[in-house]
Amino acid sequence: MNDMLIIAHRGASAYAPENTLAAFELAYRQGADMLELDVQRTSDGHLVVFHDPTTARWDTPSRSVSSCTLADLRTLDIDGERVATLAEVCAFARDTGVLLNVELKQADISAQTVMLLRNHAIAERVLISSFYATALKELQQIAPDIRRAYLMGTQTYRLDVRTRELWPFLALQQVRAAAWHPAYQLPALRQVLPLVRRSGYAVNVWTVDDPQLMHQLVTWGATGIITNRPDVARRILGPVSKGTI
Ligand code: G3P
Ligand code: CA
Repeated sequence: MNDMLIIAHRGASAYAPENTLAAFELAYRQGADMLELDVQRTSDGHLVVFHDPTTARWDTPSRSVSSCTLADLRTLDIDGERVATLAEVCAFARDTGVLLNVELKQADISAQTVMLLRNHAIAERVLISSFYATALKELQQIAPDIRRAYLMGTQTYRLDVRTRELWPFLALQQVRAAAWHPAYQLPALRQVLPLVRRSGYAVNVWTVDDPQLMHQLVTWGATGIITNRPDVARRILGPVSKGTI
């Protein structure tokens, strides 16, 4: 038995179309404790579960997601599945009890997201993450009870970003984060991860599909693994732990 959270990255996205209900249902069946999903707002004000800023992977000509209506996005063929709304995933979480990690892909959708989570009465079972400090700060103001995770690991040479990734303590403190979500490729993760844990933050690492690295993260003290292969993580980590956030 292990207390580490298995967090299914865009659902069980190694086996089913990412960010669709099919991927979330499969992840749940494979033993994921938590589902990670990407949220954006459409031009007609719906919160949808979609990773890319544009439709290019599924449509020509490509359109920006924020310029599409929900109906536009629902016409996309996501490898045989349809785009899900955040409301649909909230209903799935409410019905199954599975935890959610909602990633805000736009900086200005915090309030609407919080309202939806509260309407579905699942706010206490959700961890909201973002690369946007502004979104996390707004959440701290409007919904301090909902746990926040600071995502790090963008590909950039910007010195301020690289410094923050190497030594995340100030940034975590500024947004009152409950968790740090570093990419596994971050430099010195092996050294910094235990220090972040000792400071009281949860640490959930993305995106980890390699069994050997999963084993290492256990020994480094990670609290969760964000993976495209929740079945592999479940095999490594053992029976369902009923992990909490
Ligand atoms: O939450 C970790 C990970 O999902 C962040 O990167 O691009 O897969 O959304 P991305
Ligand atoms: Ca994501």
